[in-house]
Amino acid sequence: MLRHTFNSKNPIFGGFSECLDKYTDFDKLVCELEGLRKIGDMIVNSSANLSSYQAHPWTVLKLVFLKMYVRDVYTPIIGRRYPFMAFIDPFAGTGLNAYKNAEFYMPGSSLVAWSFATYPFNKIYAIGYRQDYIALKQRLERFIPKEYQWVKKGDANEVIDNIIDDLLERKEEYKGVHYLAFIDPESTEVHWNTLEKLVSLEGQGVAGDFIILLQARLIARTIGKIRKGQTRENTTEKLELFFGTEKWKKLLSLSSGEIEEGVKQFYINRLKKLKSKALIEIINIELMRRNIHYYLIYITRKTKGGAPYLETVRWLKQFVEKVDKKEVVGNAINKVLGIRLLPDYIKST
Ligand SMILES: C[S@@+](CC[C@H](N)C(=O)[O-])C[C@H]1O[C@@H](n2cnc3c(N)ncnc32)[C@H](O)[C@@H]1O
Repeated sequence: MLRHTFNSKNPIFGGFSECLDKYTDFDKLVCELEGLRKIGDMIVNSSANLSSYQAHPWTVLKLVFLKMYVRDVYTPIIGRRYPFMAFIDPFAGTGLNAYKNAEFYMPGSSLVAWSFATYPFNKIYAIGYRQDYIALKQRLERFIPKEYQWVKKGDANEVIDNIIDDLLERKEEYKGVHYLAFIDPESTEVHWNTLEKLVSLEGQGVAGDFIILLQARLIARTIGKIRKGQTRENTTEKLELFFGTEKWKKLLSLSSGEIEEGVKQFYINRLKKLKSKALIEIINIELMRRNIHYYLIYITRKTKGGAPYLETVRWLKQFVEKVDKKEVVGNAINKVLGIRLLPDYIKST
């Protein structure tokens, strides 16, 4: 007789992944990584000689969050309500992430969204920068049917205008259009104006959710260097484009220990003002020993019925945060790769 187990701690999900039935968080993570690796291997096998982006433990966590959000929250809900559902990936990279020091490959964000959607996206919009473009285009062409993909080369802050034009055309055609934008720069490459343009689409009937990666510690370090006069001339301009205002300069007067929190608060307060009725969840990714600290900022819009799926997002948040604090990513990857773990290590996760 089959014994049915149900982990009552998980809120109701819209996807059908067997990973959620795993008993411990560690096993859940291993299961999610196995799924990513399967697709990663397929991409490598089809395009081994093309470049990839180097992945680290923190890359893994953002992709796990994206995978679970797309699969269990976004596409099951939006796919049923909107005739046209899009994924916007302005910092799409090369379409493949190769984990440092191990034979472990994961799809790039565009292919994570495409591969793990419970209901398919009608369009994946991806931008490839400079030399990333060729690899990105070939990989997306290999795995996504032509009519579902839109790949262009260039600076995200310029090419975004073409994406916006296309979305507005789709709006005429389909009436209901909704998008998920994954904003994943290396540091300050996304201009505030780019976010403003996307958010202002709401006034034209095209709404969206956002996952924005904020490299708070890296940006705080840059601000610290400006104070010491150790940066290049255009760094101040870059920060102004990133924050969309000169007022970021008030961060210069904070003590060194306060700048990182200052960056986070300043950026989030600006996002709150930018998007009306915004519901924001902040996912904290801190890898203590690696001196990495970034935030995934999740933004959605309060609707008449509230945002019932926020509970699920909070569950995802605590899952990703718990995993990260215990520094288990390396162990989970080893387990996926079949490298034996010491019993004590498994217990402590
Ligand atoms: C963190 S990586 C993105 C990884 C990708 N989202 C993924 O998960 O696979 C950031 C990417 O943005 C690219 N990039 C940097 N400046 C850019 C710009 N102005 N416009 C578009 N892409 C840019 C970099 O070359 C790099 O590939």
